[in-house]
Amino acid sequence: MSNPVCLVTGSSSGIGAAVVDEFARHGYDIVVNYNSGQDRAEAIAEDLRQSHGVQALCIGANLAERDAPFRLVDEAVGHFGRLDVAISNSGVANYIKDEKSGELIRHRFHECPPEHLDLEMDRVLNLNLKGAYRFGQRALKHMIDFAQAQQQAGEVPHHRSLLFITSVSDIAPETTRIPYGVSKAGLNHAVVGAAFEGGPHNITSNALRPGVVDTPLTARPSGITDPATGEEFTVAQTYGLMAEGGSQALPWIANPDDIAVAAYAFTQIPYMTGQLVAVDGGFTLAGGFPNRELFLNEGLRRRQG
Ligand SMILES: NC(=O)c1ccc[n+]([C@@H]2O[C@H](COP(=O)([O-])OP(=O)(O)OC[C@H]3O[C@@H](n4cnc5c(N)ncnc54)[C@H](OP(=O)(O)O)[C@@H]3O)[C@@H](O)[C@H]2O)c1
Repeated sequence: MSNPVCLVTGSSSGIGAAVVDEFARHGYDIVVNYNSGQDRAEAIAEDLRQSHGVQALCIGANLAERDAPFRLVDEAVGHFGRLDVAISNSGVANYIKDEKSGELIRHRFHECPPEHLDLEMDRVLNLNLKGAYRFGQRALKHMIDFAQAQQQAGEVPHHRSLLFITSVSDIAPETTRIPYGVSKAGLNHAVVGAAFEGGPHNITSNALRPGVVDTPLTARPSGITDPATGEEFTVAQTYGLMAEGGSQALPWIANPDDIAVAAYAFTQIPYMTGQLVAVDGGFTLAGGFPNRELFLNEGLRRRQG
């Protein structure tokens, strides 16, 4: 019997890199996908082979391009001859760098110039939504083909799983990040649709919605300054401080391994499908009652000017 196979998009960094390690630890052969990080991806694949004794194949693909997601899945299936878990994880924020300064441009929604509005939306729709949508569609197609082959051979198809890393930004509002939230909220709908087509073939489809995770994505500047030092906080530092201040139930932000153990667990639950589950330390819980004093003091401060 060959090992089960797990393909993870964007596994050359952050959450994806932790996810492939978690699956390799559990004996899966792995497909590592990268876009710009070929060297990082090769090093990760080599580490999986050495540390866990599994096979690891690296495939480069810019998933914002029309045919790349199809090619990626076909190549993975062509190589291993099976696909048990497919995880759509690649993603970018909507911010665009200023050509001259190299700094991220952050506009509030109502102030954003039309060209910029479109650039930001295209950036996230092309990868986070359309890329993930095409990837999920092709993975589901192969999984259904494999399941039907098992049925024709008189076997009961084993459990296969699609997982989409979306985000709590699908509902949690941030006015400079609306396109990002739109891309993730849109993808949630495909997750639920895929659940119905996969169901009869024992294929589950779910979304894992992380809160804030300490990765290269959140190492970008936040636009908020530390009053003590005058230095700009990163996004991870900002949300870490907020967590300490009561913005979520667990007073710290996640690390990639926290998401990886959840991703592995979600793909092993045969009777959970079509679910959009937050793994966010309680960030999206209504925090009004537990943080009553915090909000009360802030309200008083604002009323007093
Ligand atoms: N970090 C958070 O707080 C957080 C919270 C909620 C949801 N998420 C989601 O979690 C996922 C992973 O994020 P992360 O924090 O781990 O970010 P990250 O460290 O920046 O990693 C992003 C990954 O996506 C890949 N990628 C970027 N553009 C791509 C493209 N055009 N085609 C294919 N792959 C591409 C990158 O590949 P290369 O490096 O090889 O270019 C990299 O492997 C994203 O979908 C993100 O939206 C993150």
